Amino acid sequence: MPPQVKEKWVSLSDLSHFLMGSDTPEDLVENASSYIVDILEVDYCRIILMDLNGRYYCKSEYSKTAPFHLNGTILEPSVAEGIYSRLLDPDNHLRLLLAHEHLTPIEKASLGIKETEKSWIIPLKIESRGIGVLILGQKGSKGSQILSEDSYYMVDLISDQLSNAIHRAQMSDQLESLSIETVIALSKTLETRDLHSASHSKLMASLSEQMANHYQFSVRETRELCWAALLHDIGKIGVEDTILKKTGPLTEEEWEVMKMHPEIGAQIVRGVSGLESIATLVLTHHERVDGTGYPQGLSGDQIPLGGRILAVVDAYSTMTEGRPYQAKRTHTEAIQEIINNSGKAYDPDVVNLFLSLFNGNKKEQ
Ligand SMILES: [Fe+2]
Repeated sequence: MPPQVKEKWVSLSDLSHFLMGSDTPEDLVENASSYIVDILEVDYCRIILMDLNGRYYCKSEYSKTAPFHLNGTILEPSVAEGIYSRLLDPDNHLRLLLAHEHLTPIEKASLGIKETEKSWIIPLKIESRGIGVLILGQKGSKGSQILSEDSYYMVDLISDQLSNAIHRAQMSDQLESLSIETVIALSKTLETRDLHSASHSKLMASLSEQMANHYQFSVRETRELCWAALLHDIGKIGVEDTILKKTGPLTEEEWEVMKMHPEIGAQIVRGVSGLESIATLVLTHHERVDGTGYPQGLSGDQIPLGGRILAVVDAYSTMTEGRPYQAKRTHTEAIQEIINNSGKAYDPDVVNLFLSLFNGNKKEQ
């Protein structure tokens, strides 16, 4: 295989991996246009998507000659919407439209295509349902065709992969919105049972997000850790008020009941669509690296990193806010307690990273 052709297929493989790995529709369309410009050796690429109301928006535009890189959202003019609707009609099986040959000067102008440019408009479809269009263009006159014949197959492959990836990301986005609503509803339920939990969970989520950023977690991993921080004590809705709100020390029997909350919480979130993946973090937030925690007595790396992070931020938040059964401590006292338990209750690496969060941002003593 000639080196140039091989290079193209490698780039196509990179695009496929990128499309499969993108966490959000925004990230996906924002970067896909620059990949496509490189692979197909065109001058510019626009990705136009249809919203739920049938309006078309330019979501991403990249040009290597201008150069410009649009990462915003621009409503397409009504003339352009008419062209897209025709191309995306389920009865229309046209796989591409040669804009420079088949559109009137007014229509070309509405798409921002100059008379001297060669351009293609490719439908993006899921089965027969249109979701948007891809516009590829070559500025100036560079031969009668802007793409070689070999590239036709690549255009087909790319438009199919892009359509599927956008559809998958949009579905995942909708599911996430539902999951966020569920997390909010569940955490509000917890607040009504335990007055300390609202601010405690929010502080935990904020600290967890900072820790996730330091560990360079992906968008999805960060989101899951923050959701787990908000819901880590959701199992307490299964613990009676006489224990949950007791002001004195808990008896041994009462502690046994209290120690059931990670398992109850894990069961609750495991049963909610979209939240299954955070069950393990909820389950392990009271495990200790020396193996003396609960409910499973896991040790070291047996505890997932997210669980080890939650253990530290939970301890800090609990100590600095106080509990009915535990006096409030200062920032310095809480930090000292965490250092004293590094390597026993807490992962030393996580503790070191946690301490670094406060460097240059010194709390009141
Ligand atoms: Fe807990």
